[in-house]
Amino acid sequence: MDRLRVLELYSGIGGMHYALKESTLAAEVVAAVDVNTTANEIYKHNFPNTPLLPKTIEGMTLQDFDKLNFDMILMSPPCQPFTRIGLQGDVTDPRTKSFLYILDLLPRLSKRPQFVLLENVKGFETSAARDALLNTLRQCDYSFQEFLITPTHLGIPNSRLRYFLIAKRKPGSFSFQTSEQIMEGFPKPLSSESANTLHNHPTPSESKSSGPIIFKMETAQELERKRNQDSQETVRRLQDFLHEEEDMDRYLLPPKTLLRYAVLMDIVQPSSRRSVCFTKGYGHYVEGTGSVLQSCVDVELESVFKSLELLSEDDQIKQLLLLKLRYFTPREIANLMGFPADFTFPEHISVKQQYRVLGNSLNVHVVSNLIRLMVS
Ligand SMILES: C[S@@+](CC[C@H](N)C(=O)[O-])C[C@H]1O[C@@H](n2cnc3c(N)ncnc32)[C@H](O)[C@@H]1O
Repeated sequence: MDRLRVLELYSGIGGMHYALKESTLAAEVVAAVDVNTTANEIYKHNFPNTPLLPKTIEGMTLQDFDKLNFDMILMSPPCQPFTRIGLQGDVTDPRTKSFLYILDLLPRLSKRPQFVLLENVKGFETSAARDALLNTLRQCDYSFQEFLITPTHLGIPNSRLRYFLIAKRKPGSFSFQTSEQIMEGFPKPLSSESANTLHNHPTPSESKSSGPIIFKMETAQELERKRNQDSQETVRRLQDFLHEEEDMDRYLLPPKTLLRYAVLMDIVQPSSRRSVCFTKGYGHYVEGTGSVLQSCVDVELESVFKSLELLSEDDQIKQLLLLKLRYFTPREIANLMGFPADFTFPEHISVKQQYRVLGNSLNVHVVSNLIRLMVS
């Protein structure tokens, strides 16, 4: 069989390309398209032989697309128009324009691709852009399935709940029982007893639950949830993903940050089986951008935070420093996101830039599983 010709749109640092490689499918990326210069440099550095088009998608004509003669589209359109924290501009947000352009092109291609995979944030499923996508897929005669999946479903100690859609041109069909409902987790093959895992996995809540705050601005429910996560033996421990570098001190949280944000941080230990989603502001903004690691585990977290507010600022800092709280390194985040060891950054890319592009990327293992599911 000929190798599948894959078009990678919004290619960033190539998360989709790594997922395709991991899927071991006989395939090649015939073009990757992205406008971001930093992401493109990193992409080129790791995939020097892949044609990378540093332009906007809407700057490409129908003829340009037709010439690429592709069988599969892998894409992660910008998610800001759909995030719950954002303004949710949806289809009116200028950043959705290129995606609507793709939807407009799809029916007009001289050869429609056999497969389409899309990744976006949770929130996309309630957008008008998603309705437009489903309408286009129906009009173009595709079977499809939507998912909400987080890497913990694969035993990876990192939450990154994302929306995915896989589509296959008819008469092709999937090897699992599809559903109109969004699947939360991976489906089981048709042959196994229960057809799929619809709603079998509790979706990790990323919102704060109510109730009295008992520790570090956390409620009893939140603490209970974290304890439950840490006791799930099907999920690996963070220590398997850690990677100490030469100059680890650069990742330590400075005293000022500790003083200001310690109670708001999500603190994990090497033995933990969880971490929150790492976003593009990690290492720069502390709150809600990703977990921090307690690298000295001889000290108990609870004992440090107990009565902390009764101490002077200097003593608070002294106490907090005992924990040796540090950021995860970009390499460690890449490990948690499933990037292989041969993925590297060009030397001049700063740590801040590395966090930024990783925060925009995706979990390679999750997508690789979905690619396999899509083609089987
Ligand atoms: C969510 S990120 C995708 C990340 C990618 N999957 C990865 O693994 O790094 C979205 C990407 O789309 C790019 N982008 C946004 N609008 C674009 C457009 N109109 N044309 C081409 N690329 C665009 C951004 O530069 C960004 O790299």
